[in-house]
Amino acid sequence: MRCNQPADFLSPDPHWIFYLITTTMKFFIDTANLAQIKEANELGILDGVTTNPSLMAKEGIKGQDAVMNHYKTICEIVDGDISAEVISTEFKAIIEEGNKLAAIHPNIIVKVPMIKDGVKALKWFTDNGIKTNCTLVFSAGQAILAAKAGATYVSPFIGRIDDGSWDGVQLIAQISHIYKLQGFKTEILAASIRSALHIVKCAEAGANVCTCPLDSILGLLKHPLTDIGLAKFLEDAKKTM
Ligand code: E4P
Repeated sequence: MRCNQPADFLSPDPHWIFYLITTTMKFFIDTANLAQIKEANELGILDGVTTNPSLMAKEGIKGQDAVMNHYKTICEIVDGDISAEVISTEFKAIIEEGNKLAAIHPNIIVKVPMIKDGVKALKWFTDNGIKTNCTLVFSAGQAILAAKAGATYVSPFIGRIDDGSWDGVQLIAQISHIYKLQGFKTEILAASIRSALHIVKCAEAGANVCTCPLDSILGLLKHPLTDIGLAKFLEDAKKTM
């Protein structure tokens, strides 16, 4: 279900009230691979997709038209927020590129890097009704800036933080605490997830969204006692036939 914050508080969109009451952690898949996107979507628990230039390159997508078409295809597969990343780094160029991306489909979220011109662009997109995802976030200070600029999502890269022996999940908890205290509406999108345990820890720490590789999502299914228990039930079921 998609919903928009009401402009008129006297007649709010009922979907928005429902969203406020019931919002729970969303699952995005972090890939540009169409087969994996379809597989995750068929599970019925997918709320969106994130991509980045490295993930697009991994799929061999080359040239602006091919990139645009690929985003369009993803939007046709998944009914949810689809992050499309700008590669421009200068304000005017970010706005131009972001507008082109946003025009592909209403579900496109323009992904903007946490740089000075990126913050200016986030504010511009906010003021012009275009949803954004502020990427490459590694500190609470950056997350505050993104929220002040009105970003729809902020993406702390928890796996890359862990790689440097800092604590990525701790950053999610810190940002969640600050946003609640200050009343920021930006959603925390835990990115650079490396495992099923990361997903559980981010849920505990207050992430609004986890964007995960397919393996990490499927990792949530695993428990040996489930397999042992099912084998026993199926064996015993034969005795009842
Ligand atoms: C998604 O929005 C990010 O670009 C992605 O999660 C980064 O993941 P990585 O650190 O595994 O490259």
